[in-house]
Amino acid sequence: MSEAAGDVAVITGAASGIGEATARLLAGRGWRVVLADVQAGRLDELAGEIGPAARPLRVDVAREADVAAAADLAVEAFGRLDLMFANAGVFGAYGPIHTADIAAVDATWAVDLRGVFLSMKHAARVMRPRQRGVIVATTSPAAVVGGVGNHAYSAAKAGILGLMRSVAGELRPHGIRVNAVMPGPTATPMNADLALGDATAMDRAIELLQARTDGKRPVFADDIAEAVAFLAGPAAEMITAHTLVVDGGFTAVPGDSRWTKGEHASGGAIFEAGRRAS
Ligand SMILES: NC(=O)c1ccc[n+]([C@@H]2O[C@H](COP(=O)([O-])OP(=O)(O)OC[C@H]3O[C@@H](n4cnc5c(N)ncnc54)[C@H](O)[C@@H]3O)[C@@H](O)[C@H]2O)c1
Repeated sequence: MSEAAGDVAVITGAASGIGEATARLLAGRGWRVVLADVQAGRLDELAGEIGPAARPLRVDVAREADVAAAADLAVEAFGRLDLMFANAGVFGAYGPIHTADIAAVDATWAVDLRGVFLSMKHAARVMRPRQRGVIVATTSPAAVVGGVGNHAYSAAKAGILGLMRSVAGELRPHGIRVNAVMPGPTATPMNADLALGDATAMDRAIELLQARTDGKRPVFADDIAEAVAFLAGPAAEMITAHTLVVDGGFTAVPGDSRWTKGEHASGGAIFEAGRRAS
């Protein structure tokens, strides 16, 4: 059992990918977990595997009553809420801006941004009386880099960063930390669906991701789960309003960087007007 034994989490998007990996990792370390997702059948299977430490709940994060029920279930079933992992998300509407289907854009924001807002709202509602707790939201490189996501998704993920910092400011005096995790392209059903049109084609998705990572391995859902466990734990006690990037350098290092491809491996020095050190 870890130091966090017995702590209680609500995990949205728990039926698949990053949420599922986080549920398994936390439960394996003694946490009790409310599994919240629209995919009720998959939630039941996962809860069955985890055992009595898990409570599945069909939750559409775009619906306030559903999110409120998830926070309440944590308190009713396990006595408190230590971590809200606001992770549920969809890739959503894509296509040129000038032909955008605004209903599809709104539906994307309803999950990707309003869902996170509601998760923070109801986490704060049950955490404030105890003056402690941690909220972690899942953003994306699409929040800070163009060309890696669609417009609606990118805007929502950037919105999460502003929301996270704003709520962190409000909740800091109440002993509640609020952070974001930013996964790089991660081997999950969402990415397999995006790359191959088949959410179950994980092996081929991993091959594709592998080819885009300079021969290094892709990001796996377990990498993100570890980051969330860290942010939720006592080692991160002084970390709030922070975005933890877990992407193997995807966001900060351009894929075509001459400096990572060995072009300048022999070294040297460049000074003014073409002068070189001898
Ligand atoms: N996979 C990546 O490369 C990647 C990169 C950056 C960020 N993310 C983000 O990570 C999070 C998890 O994505 P994933 O890759 O594990 O995808 P995934 O599709 O495997 O899992 C997402 C889960 O969210 C659930 N969900 C969708 N809409 C919901 C709703 N309205 N209410 C409740 N649950 C809902 C789905 O049913 C699914 O189980 C998302 O927010 C995603 O945007 C993913």
